[in-house]
Order: sequence, then C-alpha cells, then structure tokens
Amino acid sequence: MDALAMKKLAGEFAARYVEPHTLIGIGTGSTAYWFIQALGEKMKQGLQIQAVATSKESAILAASFGIPILELNDVDEIALTVDGADEVDPRLQLIKGGGGALLQEKMVAAVSRRLVIVADERKQVAQLGAFPLPVEVIPAGWKHVRRRILEMSCPKVELRGGTQPFVTDHGHYILDCYFGQIQDAHALNLQLHEIPGVVETGLFLNMATEAIIAHADGHIQLIKRES
Ligand code: 5RP
Repeated sequence: MDALAMKKLAGEFAARYVEPHTLIGIGTGSTAYWFIQALGEKMKQGLQIQAVATSKESAILAASFGIPILELNDVDEIALTVDGADEVDPRLQLIKGGGGALLQEKMVAAVSRRLVIVADERKQVAQLGAFPLPVEVIPAGWKHVRRRILEMSCPKVELRGGTQPFVTDHGHYILDCYFGQIQDAHALNLQLHEIPGVVETGLFLNMATEAIIAHADGHIQLIKRES
C-alpha cells in the first residue's frame, strides 16, 4: 500500500467515530481530506452533524461536501476532532503544522473532548524532532525570533516560503526549526513561548487522546493515550 492509500484508509476509518447530531472538529491536510470526504458521504446518507474547521482550506472543502461549518467562537465544546500529524510518538505527543494550520488546529484541539489523529505509519517516531518544528510568529519581528531560536542550539531555522513567505490563515509567518531529536518537548515548548513574537508552536503535548495509524500491509493500528 502506498502513502496515498494509507492516508485514505486512516482518514476514512475515522468517519465511523462520528456520532449523529454532534459537533465535530475537522482537521487539515491530505489525511484529514479523506475524513472530510467520508463525512460528506455519510451526510448524503442522512447523517446530521455540525463542524468547526481548523483552516480556511478545510472549511471550504467541508462546505463543498455539504457539511455545515460553525465559527470556533460560536461553540462551547467539540465532541470529537479528527486531524493529521507530521510526527506521532508512542505517548501520542505530536508535531503538527506541516500544512501551516497549527494555530487554529491547536485552538480547536484545546476545546475538543477527543482528538483523534489520523496518520500513516511513516509518521510514527520513537522521539519527536526529525520533522522540522513549525513555529508560528508575528511577521513584524520574525528575524528576532529566528535569532533567539538559533541561540537555543537549533542549528537551522528557515522562514517558510523564503523570499515569498507563507502567510497563515491568521496572518502570521512560520519558522521551520530543525532542532533534531527533542529530548524534553514540554521544556522546549515553554522556552519557545517565552520569546516575544512567538504565537504558537507545532508541539501538541497531552492533546491527542487516540490515533488511527494505517500501515503499508493494509492493517490499522488503534492507539489510546494512557491516562
Ligand atoms: C497541518 C497539519 C497536518 O495535519 C499535518 O501536516 C499532516 O498532514 P498530512 O496528512 O497531509 O500528511 O498539521 O497544519
């Protein structure tokens, strides 16, 4: 099974977690795409739900499948959010933000009772950090933030998009930080948040409750976070 087939398998599998008449958070990326698509199919068969999107891209996609979208500010609690990830460790700590939607993704995850991650086996790592950590920053001060992160023994920090910077849904830039193996993700997250100009990091710690991992041999691995 190739990467696309694994993403489809995991994304579509997650649709069976959705209960009628609930509020669902819908993730961003090429794996979440299949969840949204499957949800749209279920709605054609009569399922009624409402959703909050983690990006403009996902909101447009969901609306095209007939899924009613609410604003995050207009809801209290989300029953279930299904989202992708760039890295998943054995304790379901994550790196997210490869698609640039980390801020809204984290805000949605923070008000969700369940955060189910859909991913293929290539995203599983023993320790976070091989994937460059996305850090969302205020454009007016990104160079100063970059310098501070380089001083934190991070050998390489790239402005996403380079001379034509990628702009997030919330109008910010992203710095991709090549820390390498992250020994203490909680400490790193706190340290990054202390830098003026940092809006959010792609470290999603103690947020995912479950993961649906699709493997190349076609089997699905279900992981629950130990409480
Ligand atoms: C977007 C994300 C995505 O969920 C993450 O990048 C995984 O994407 P994909 O399923 O396309 O591999 O965090 O900000």
